[in-house]
Amino acid sequence: MNAKKLYEDYLITSMVAGFEPIEVERASGCTMTGADGKDYLDCFSGIAVVNAGHGHPRVLAAAREQMEKLVHCCTYVYYNPRAAELAKRLAEVTPGRLQKSFFGNSGAEAVEGAVRLAKQFTGRHELLALTRSFHGRTVGTLSISGNRARKKGGGPYLPGVAFAPAPYCYRCPLKLSYPACGVACAEAVDQALRYQTAGDVAAFVAEPVMGEGGIIVPPKEYFAIAVEIVRKDGGLFVADEVQCGFGRTGRLFAIEHYGVEPDILCMAKGIADGFPLSAFIARPEVADAFRPGDHLSTFGGNPVSCAAALANLDVMIDEKLPEAAAERGAQLIARLNAVKEAFPLVGDVRGKGLMIGVELVRDAEKTPAASEAKEIRKLCREAGVLVGLGGALANVIRLQPPLVITAAEVDRAADVLEVALAEVSACGS
Ligand SMILES: Cc1ncc(COP(=O)(O)O)c(C=O)c1O
Repeated sequence: MNAKKLYEDYLITSMVAGFEPIEVERASGCTMTGADGKDYLDCFSGIAVVNAGHGHPRVLAAAREQMEKLVHCCTYVYYNPRAAELAKRLAEVTPGRLQKSFFGNSGAEAVEGAVRLAKQFTGRHELLALTRSFHGRTVGTLSISGNRARKKGGGPYLPGVAFAPAPYCYRCPLKLSYPACGVACAEAVDQALRYQTAGDVAAFVAEPVMGEGGIIVPPKEYFAIAVEIVRKDGGLFVADEVQCGFGRTGRLFAIEHYGVEPDILCMAKGIADGFPLSAFIARPEVADAFRPGDHLSTFGGNPVSCAAALANLDVMIDEKLPEAAAERGAQLIARLNAVKEAFPLVGDVRGKGLMIGVELVRDAEKTPAASEAKEIRKLCREAGVLVGLGGALANVIRLQPPLVITAAEVDRAADVLEVALAEVSACGS
């Protein structure tokens, strides 16, 4: 029996709109190989996870070595040396005074924990988030996710959550244009706090670059303005770097582009090149607000995952992967901007580093071209290039390859995407 049939019979998959029809046998670097032997250039990295490339030899060696010694002990019952070493390394590489980490397993678990910590530290109970955001699939993280498509059927959600408008210039929620707008979306944080909350906001939770919402890059002034407003009101700033962290945007952490120090920073996905691990890190005085019994995780900080994460960080720094992401990202965006001129279907090309979105629209009114995006993903796959889809309106092609992608591979991805865009544009005209 093949995996597809077993999936149909034994996995809960009815919530998946459509699988990519590839049974993945193995992967290396930027190449994923199907059970039929076909190779694909992976430009999605298992949703922005394998930033150092599939199966990086140094990460695998570290995990293998650790596996022979210790797989599990529970990081919060006994001292796990790899978790200790990793926490120290994270304190060294994260911005500002962030110092003490808590380890979990998934992005949602990191965000849940960060929110809990923010509440304990401030003694406050409300939260502020952004429309079009995504923070995970637990009740808490869905409560602060600003996207009906993800929330439907699961409500009612937690009370005490306010939403500020997404800093989304292409479809400005305030109908303004940057820079003449004066970054009014950041000023709107004040309105959200003033008119949607009871003045009890523990934290503003935001993605420095929004991923699932369609690769939305806030204007460069956004976080300085928004976070100052939140802090004046007594709340903390929680940066959700689950998707945009670990070199993806051209810096180790995306908030570095904005010169703002988060009070808590959440990580997962790219932290261990595919081994399951997440973390949130806080300033010591914030971190120490937890009291006995307040928080824990059985599997969090798994020794094998921590060993992989330590090697992954060394690889990021030794191989200059954030710098590579900046360079290859600039190359890809330049190619895509040229393609945009040729095809009206391409409404917007945006991104930072190798976190890139191509938003497709049908007309000058920016009618979302979701079925076209799906067709383009299919055509790219048939031509051997894997891309992702995203955006609240499902009309954004996501290009988030491993950061080890070569200049030649970037060109190949752009060539394939261009041919697919031409084919779909020809069908529509
Ligand atoms: C910004 C962000 N936060 C949190 C999550 C949730 O992560 P996980 O699926 O590992 O729980 C995601 C997942 O896509 C994400 O993009």
